[in-house]
Amino acid sequence: MATKEILLQKIGQRKARIGIIGLGYVGLPLAVEFARAGFRVLGYDVSERVVKAINDGRSHIQDVPATSVAALVKEGLLEATTDPSLLGEIDAISIAVPTPLAKTRDPDMSYVVSATDTVARTARPGQVIVLESTTYPGTTRELLQPAMEERGLVVGRDIFLAFSPERVDPGNERYTTKNTPKVVGGITAACTEVAVALYSACIDHCVPVSSPEAAELTKLLENTFRSVNIGLVNEMAIVCDKLGVNVWEVIDAAATKPFGFMRFAPGPGIGGHCIPLDPHYLAWKMRTLNYKTRFIDLASEINSQMPSYVVEKVAAALNDERKAVNGSRVLVLGVAYKRDIDDTRESPALDVIRLLEELGASVAYHDPYVPSFHEDGVRHESVALSDEELKRADAVVIVTDHSIVDYQRLVNRASLIVDARNATARAVPGKARIVSLSASRAEISSEPLSPAAAGKIVA
Ligand SMILES: NC(=O)c1ccc[n+]([C@@H]2O[C@H](COP(=O)([O-])OP(=O)(O)OC[C@H]3O[C@@H](n4cnc5c(N)ncnc54)[C@H](O)[C@@H]3O)[C@@H](O)[C@H]2O)c1
Repeated sequence: MATKEILLQKIGQRKARIGIIGLGYVGLPLAVEFARAGFRVLGYDVSERVVKAINDGRSHIQDVPATSVAALVKEGLLEATTDPSLLGEIDAISIAVPTPLAKTRDPDMSYVVSATDTVARTARPGQVIVLESTTYPGTTRELLQPAMEERGLVVGRDIFLAFSPERVDPGNERYTTKNTPKVVGGITAACTEVAVALYSACIDHCVPVSSPEAAELTKLLENTFRSVNIGLVNEMAIVCDKLGVNVWEVIDAAATKPFGFMRFAPGPGIGGHCIPLDPHYLAWKMRTLNYKTRFIDLASEINSQMPSYVVEKVAAALNDERKAVNGSRVLVLGVAYKRDIDDTRESPALDVIRLLEELGASVAYHDPYVPSFHEDGVRHESVALSDEELKRADAVVIVTDHSIVDYQRLVNRASLIVDARNATARAVPGKARIVSLSASRAEISSEPLSPAAAGKIVA
């Protein structure tokens, strides 16, 4: 039997051993999915801490219950290692290592390069290797393929190579790794066939495309689409503010159109490991081809200014009360980059805190999911959302709208709230003066509150 058929048979019979390189937000859920489908999975990570946690049956990823990890480890279906030499025994390898940006906003490919070297060292005929890390178009062909060929392996005949972007949405209970369709593009048709067979064994629906570049660009289009649309509504919030119109009311009304409109929400800026970073991978690639990606640059410019816009709102709101930011106590509510998760990577809250501190504010934060975090070598600890803290704060800034926070209580106890997420929209007016991202003229003139706005909102 040819190499491809043997590998397909092993996958079909769940005898293929699966290796996942990088056991983070992407790698661990994928490892668990393969193990649940009955494969024996080996996770490889450079972090001793991560490997030990998994082997001890613990989970460091919020979306993956420790009970699932513990059960799969106990059944012998999941184990983790820091020993790269074991990867030679593996039949199917998915690489899910970080792809951050360097300080210059250029791609930092060091993790992908290092993981490729690790995999190439033990690469052998009969393996399928899939890159999942978000990256610029051309990475799989230009970086991974030569590494395999240097070992004398012919891609598409001896070894099978593909790109398949991960689309995990942390905190999303409806769409998980298993039921989110998976786009797969191989170097050759045989590579796509093997990679689709692999993922079809544990993911509900695969979408084959004609090349790794098409798959790489699919992910970048998806995240650029989000970045551009968030940039658009963020600009709309500024426009609405200048016109004295409530942006949330306008968006809610526009969203009643049953076709041709998709709802995006303005806010204090974008965060996480994907949306603020991924479009820059494409922008960088296009710069090497002498093309400027204008939508990406403009969206990034608008989105990255939102923390300053929020801080300006805080300063203006304090000024209305004859207070300076300098010396004021500001309580930032929520530091995770989005609702109901514990991830602070690239969170706009970190910029909001830094900017307020630069202006001399004494800043505390509360986040039910983030007990502490480090930024620029400084440790920050979440304070309790106690009546005393609310009373002590000259302003409370809602940066992340976690659903377990009681916003009515906030409105009743705080004196001033700057609400960058419209989290207080459903609260009935209380003690707090509420400042929104954009103010409606009707609300400024202190007319009875419209049901759409519900909170007490002034400029
Ligand atoms: N987090 C998300 O929501 C998300 C969604 C879709 C795609 N992605 C993409 O998936 C990729 C991984 O992101 P993540 O959020 O899972 O990262 P992460 O930081 O959560 O996890 C990466 C893991 O890789 C390990 N690692 C680093 N270098 C390694 C190496 N050379 N060999 C083995 N292990 C190594 C780290 O120790 C870490 O445990 C990135 O390209 C990211 O853009 C992330």
